[in-house]
Amino acid sequence: MSVPLLSGKVFLLVTGASQGIGKQITESFATLLGNGSVVLLIARNKNALKETAQKLPKSLSVHTASMDLSVATADELKDVVCKALGSESATQFEKAVIVHNAGSLGDVSKPANDMKDFEIWRNYYNLNVFSPAILNGVFMELFNKETKVTRLVVNITSLCGIQPCKSLAYYCTGKAAREMFFKVFAIENPQVNVLNYSPGPVETDMQEVLRNNLGDADGKKTFNDIKASGSVLTTEQTINRLMEILKLQNYKSGDHVDYYDKQDLKQ
Ligand SMILES: NC(=O)c1ccc[n+]([C@@H]2O[C@H](COP(=O)([O-])OP(=O)(O)OC[C@H]3O[C@@H](n4cnc5c(N)ncnc54)[C@H](OP(=O)(O)O)[C@@H]3O)[C@@H](O)[C@H]2O)c1
Repeated sequence: MSVPLLSGKVFLLVTGASQGIGKQITESFATLLGNGSVVLLIARNKNALKETAQKLPKSLSVHTASMDLSVATADELKDVVCKALGSESATQFEKAVIVHNAGSLGDVSKPANDMKDFEIWRNYYNLNVFSPAILNGVFMELFNKETKVTRLVVNITSLCGIQPCKSLAYYCTGKAAREMFFKVFAIENPQVNVLNYSPGPVETDMQEVLRNNLGDADGKKTFNDIKASGSVLTTEQTINRLMEILKLQNYKSGDHVDYYDKQDLKQ
């Protein structure tokens, strides 16, 4: 497949690239990047990041940064991006692509009424809402309008960001806030291509947690039924769809596009 937004000399940053959907995004996107492209992978698990990195084409310059995004400061984030840039300047790239994929479910055992601890809320939002907003700002400061680099921002969102689910108040509110941040960013920055991609139910650790630990019994049954019916997607299926969506460009910048959406017409 050829995806113009991912061709040529690209600077690609993927968060949560150590496993699951982020690992697949990295592997699939990497096959499309031109010679001399730079890839920066961020997550906590150093060895798993290295494993992802080792699978990528040798024509790419691949960097990994093991860091906890829930506590990383803007300066630390800027530092890892600058290290990956090395002696090159932002203007030397044709495209700059950032994929905000890292995320967590939080405690899925409790109803909203029992979520009474400020510290838990703050920690959850630090990773899932504040960190992508700050990293995005850092990235846009380096790859700014003056660099004339074509910029693509993909936020990995969820159906839970637009549809409430019992026992998932941390996750649903986090996804909704994060998605709205990128919608505001999109209208403020019409030169940047922004996609909020909802990947569908995908076989990763996250799905397993929902099947085993979701507090709401009906919801838990639904996730187990999806698995039993064979409807859980592979990471490859959902990322192939993402690449198709990026290739077709039938969305408006900032839109929420789901794996299952029909993408024939611009609305
Ligand atoms: N799977 C699904 O069905 C599904 C459906 C809709 C949306 N999504 C979204 O897809 C994205 C990826 O999820 P997944 O299913 O691939 O889950 P996953 O396998 O649990 O992967 C989560 C990724 O986020 C990283 N991460 C978590 N906490 C982090 C932290 N504090 N600092 C840095 N990195 C951190 C993890 O890396 P480390 O542990 O190495 O830090 C891992 O690479 C998430 O945003 C999720 O909400 C998933």
